[in-house]
Amino acid sequence: MLRDSFGRVATDLRVSLTDKCNLRCTYCMPPEGLDWLPNAQLLTADEIVRLVTIGVERLGITEVRYTGGEPLIRRELVDIVTRTAALTPKPQISLTTNGIGLARLAGPLAAAGLDRVNVSLDTLDSDTFKRLAHRDRHADVIAGLAAADDAGLRPVKVNAVLMRDLNDHEAVPLLRWCLDRGYELRFIEQMPLDAQHGWTREGMVTADEILDRLSGGFDLTADDLEERGSAPAERFLVDGGPARVGVIGSVTRPFCGSCDRVRLTADGQVRNCLFAREESDLKTRMREGASDEELAERWVAAVARKRAGHGIDDPSFLQPARPMSAIGG
Ligand code: GTP
Ligand code: 5AD
Ligand code: SF4
Repeated sequence: MLRDSFGRVATDLRVSLTDKCNLRCTYCMPPEGLDWLPNAQLLTADEIVRLVTIGVERLGITEVRYTGGEPLIRRELVDIVTRTAALTPKPQISLTTNGIGLARLAGPLAAAGLDRVNVSLDTLDSDTFKRLAHRDRHADVIAGLAAADDAGLRPVKVNAVLMRDLNDHEAVPLLRWCLDRGYELRFIEQMPLDAQHGWTREGMVTADEILDRLSGGFDLTADDLEERGSAPAERFLVDGGPARVGVIGSVTRPFCGSCDRVRLTADGQVRNCLFAREESDLKTRMREGASDEELAERWVAAVARKRAGHGIDDPSFLQPARPMSAIGG
C-alpha cells in the first residue's frame, strides 16, 4: 500500500506518457514550446506497463489516468491501454487530453478498455482558442469531444481554465454548451505550473469569482447527494440538477487533505505531489536491472515522504522546477 505519514493512501496513479504537446496553452507553455525530453529518456511502452502493473498488483492502485503533455501523441497509447485493461484487478482507466486526435482514436481506445476521458476546452470561440493555445485546432477538439461521447467514454468531462480578460466572460456560455451535450464541465483555478513562471495570484480567476459569474445564468446548489471523496472538483447541482458543474479550486480551496494521487513522469520519476520538490527515480534503477520488489519498495518510500499540502500560500513557496506538461497534470 502507498501510505504517507499523514495517513493518506494513494490509489490513483497519474501517468504522463510524453511531455510534448501539439498546443501551447498560455497557462502551460510558451508559444515556441519547450526543450522536450530526449526520446531515450522516455519510458518505453513496456516500461510503462511494467510500472503500472507493479502499482496495480502490489501497491493497491485502482485507477490509472494517462496524461501528458498530450497523451494522444504517444503512438503506443492504444497498446498501453489494452495492456492496462488486462491487469487483475482491472483498474479504472481514464485519459486527460486536449482532444486533438480523439475523433480518430476514441473508438479504438474505448475498444481497448479506456473507461472515460477529460478534455480541455477553455473557449467556444475559435479565434480566442487561437490566441490562447497558439494553434488553430478548435474544431478538432470539438470533434474529439463528440467522438468520445459517441464511443461511450462517459461521463465526458470538460476542463476549462478561466483567464482574466481572455475567456473569463465565457463561464455561462461554456456551461450552457456543455449542458446541451451532456458533458460535465469543471472550471479550474489556474495554478503556478506554467513553464514561463507567469502565474500571479491577481491574474488567477478564483473559485469564488467563477461561482459568481455562473450565478448570473444558473441557480447553483451544493451537491449533497454524492460524496466528494478525494475528487479535486467540488460539484454543484445546476438549476436543481441532475446536471452538475464542478469547480476545482486548487489554490483557494485546496483539497490536499484527502489526496489519493501519485504521479509517474514520462521519464520514469515518481512524484508524490504535483508540487513536490523531489522525485524518486524508478527508470534508472529499472534499467539497471532492479526487481519488481525493489521498485515497489522505492515507490512506497517516495509516497511516505509526501508533504501535507502544496504550500502555495507559504511565504517560502517555490514553483516546481518542472512545468505541468512534464509532470503530468
Ligand atoms: P476526475 O476523476 O475525472 O474528476 O479527474 P481529475 O479532475 O482528477 O483529473 P483531470 O486530469 O481532469 O484534472 C483536472 C484538474 O485538476 C487539472 O488542472 C489538474 O491539474 C487538477 N488536479 C488533479 N489532481 C490534482 C492534485 O492532486 N492536486 C492539484 N492541486 N490539482 C490536481
Ligand atoms: N493550472 C490549472 N490547470 C492547468 N492545466 C494545465 N495547466 C494548468 C495550470 N497552470 C489543466 C489543463 C488540463 C489539465 C490536465 O490541467 O487544462 O485540463
Ligand atoms: Fe498541452 Fe495541456 Fe499544456 Fe495545453 S495544458 S499546452 S493541452 S499540455
